[in-house]
Amino acid sequence: LKILSVTAELSPYCKTGGLGDVAAAFPDAFAQFSADFEFTRLVPFYRDAKTNLLRSGRGVHLLPVAGRIELAGRTWNLGFWQLSDSRNVRTVFVSAEGLFETDGLYGSVNIDGVKYGEEVRFAALNLAALKFGNDLVQQKVDLFHVHDWHAGLLPWLRKREGFATHLHTPVVMTIHNLAYQGWFEAGSLPELATRDEGPLHFLKLGIEHSDLVTTVSPQYAREIQTPEFGYGLEDLLTEKGVRGILNGVELDAWNPQTDAVIEQKFSAANLSSKQRCKEALLHACGLKDASKPLLGVVARFDYQKGLDLLAETIPSLSEQGCNLVILGSGSAELEETYRELQVRYPDFIHTRIGFDNVLAHRIFAGCDMILVPSRFEPCGLTQLYAMRYGGLPVVTPVGGLLDTVAEVSVRDSSPQGSGFVAKSVDAQAFLQAMVRGIHLFRSNPNEWKQVQMQVMQSDFSWEKSIPEYIRCYNALFES
Ligand code: ADP
Ligand code: GLC
Repeated sequence: LKILSVTAELSPYCKTGGLGDVAAAFPDAFAQFSADFEFTRLVPFYRDAKTNLLRSGRGVHLLPVAGRIELAGRTWNLGFWQLSDSRNVRTVFVSAEGLFETDGLYGSVNIDGVKYGEEVRFAALNLAALKFGNDLVQQKVDLFHVHDWHAGLLPWLRKREGFATHLHTPVVMTIHNLAYQGWFEAGSLPELATRDEGPLHFLKLGIEHSDLVTTVSPQYAREIQTPEFGYGLEDLLTEKGVRGILNGVELDAWNPQTDAVIEQKFSAANLSSKQRCKEALLHACGLKDASKPLLGVVARFDYQKGLDLLAETIPSLSEQGCNLVILGSGSAELEETYRELQVRYPDFIHTRIGFDNVLAHRIFAGCDMILVPSRFEPCGLTQLYAMRYGGLPVVTPVGGLLDTVAEVSVRDSSPQGSGFVAKSVDAQAFLQAMVRGIHLFRSNPNEWKQVQMQVMQSDFSWEKSIPEYIRCYNALFES
């Protein structure tokens, strides 16, 4: 089966969050599981991707697949660039005469004095995928797997005349985050003209016209069929049906035994080296006292992530005798809040604004607890990375966090569970969960260590999820 996976992010070349990690890891995991599936990942050739490719020393070559599309009143010549050492899983970057050459991945681009918005840029990705799917280097694609709103036009456009049609090619759509829907004013893309001339709604069109819709955890699949989490699409999702399949972790990329950027490699059998990572992180952040529990955050500063709730807890948390390291960027207001908190509590908080993959690894390696105070969380990866590196997550009771973290309890001196789950999504409940963690850390170091060793040995692989995806894919060919 030849599968074209279409995504706006791909780690390590172009990523702002977990979509990039999953879009990269999932086809690799498939290839390891079964030789019956051949994946090609198609992603825009952003400036970031070019820079990161150069840094990694890997090359690309231009494929002999021609393509030209009409959008926003002009013709765009497409280029398809394949990562030279792609083997059973191919990575192909698509260029469209500067359309993807932005600082960062999202937003608009100016070309010759004309501004092209995200609707044009991602419509181009969808049209390019259809063209490429017609000629997947001499072989037609058997199935499209599209991710999030950025690829939501493909399921709809493949049924229409004049757009490199793929009437009989099934499409699976995976929703990584329903909060981003790709909603644009009516008439935004006259060349594509929506059926009713209403607004152009990438995600809705994707859901309506895909053959199967999945999302990244069972709990989030249930939540998005309710008004509280459905952002107006709950009825459509219920009618259509949505399967929740839990994300896995790219085990090679997130492995404390082989991680090249952390102070000392470690495993469950050698937790003293984790302590060295903690000391190095504290030192790098200008914080002191490795006997105190070290709490960390690695997140986009966005309403979703609940970092405003965490900020509310800081005065009380500062009295608990712990340290806190925060890495993130996004909302200017939250960036300011955490800069100010560092000024107010210099001995307790270190804030690093920006996107820094190396520091992210060092935070997972060095922290005792990773905080995820999200208002909603489709799956969440940072709680999984925390556990891989022997940290215990503190989370809110939503989405994939509920599916992956269970409250620690100690019975007959044998601890169960993997972290601390707030009773509800609010600052007070989250504070209580952090305090439960800090208390266990201090009062029961042996049990703490046992939980650490247990979580490090848990199975975070894609092994359980891939068979579910395979069943989904196969069902589409049987029906
Ligand atoms: P989301 O996709 O909603 O952002 P996830 O938990 O699924 O949340 O994935 C977040 C990913 O992005 C993780 O790989 C995390 O390490 C990474 N990440 C988030 N913010 C930063 C940052 N400021 N610097 C480096 N990595 C980050
Ligand atoms: C999204 C979600 C996150 C999920 C990631 C990968 O960005 O916000 O919860 O882990 O996609 O599926």
